[in-house]
Amino acid sequence: MSDDRGDHELRVSKIRNGTVIDHVPGGQALNVLAILGIDGSEGEELSVGMNVPSDRLARKDILKVEDRELSQDEVDVLSLIAPDATINIVREYDVVEKHRVDRPDVVEGVLSCPNDGCISAGDEPVDSRFEVLDDGVRCEYCDTIVREGIASLIDT
Ligand code: CTP
Ligand code: ZN
Repeated sequence: MSDDRGDHELRVSKIRNGTVIDHVPGGQALNVLAILGIDGSEGEELSVGMNVPSDRLARKDILKVEDRELSQDEVDVLSLIAPDATINIVREYDVVEKHRVDRPDVVEGVLSCPNDGCISAGDEPVDSRFEVLDDGVRCEYCDTIVREGIASLIDT
């Protein structure tokens, strides 16, 4: 739990209770916020570091959200844009849990299909279902493959 890089490298201060999402690829933090449905309008207490130097990645983003834990659905979608992310649960300033994200085989009901003709995109009560590929996602209803901009499919 020590920060051996020293306080001079601690860009955003420690949080008391909440979630630290670390090792997000540089530049993806705003997409992570979209996944979490956080836009600041509800007074969420949030710190974001973008493109900060990292040992593991060339540049990383880091997000610290107070008083918030992530649902499994949120973690599943997060894994698509930040496969090396670490989720740290903080209580009373200590990291009490640390998880790496897992890429699921399928994400259901979280992304919306960009194909207007897709049965999952219309008024039918059909939940979207995407198979997770190595380099994107594939709609199981219409086979549309999305490789770039997965964050923009997030159903909010
Ligand atoms: N953190 C925080 N507030 C706390 C405790 C930790 O913001 N009260 C942050 C740390 O600054 C760090 C992350 O949560 O960015 C993980 O903390 P920790 O496990 O202590 O750091 P490391 O050992 O460097 O993590 P890792 O090995 O996952 O890189
Ligand atoms: Zn589709």
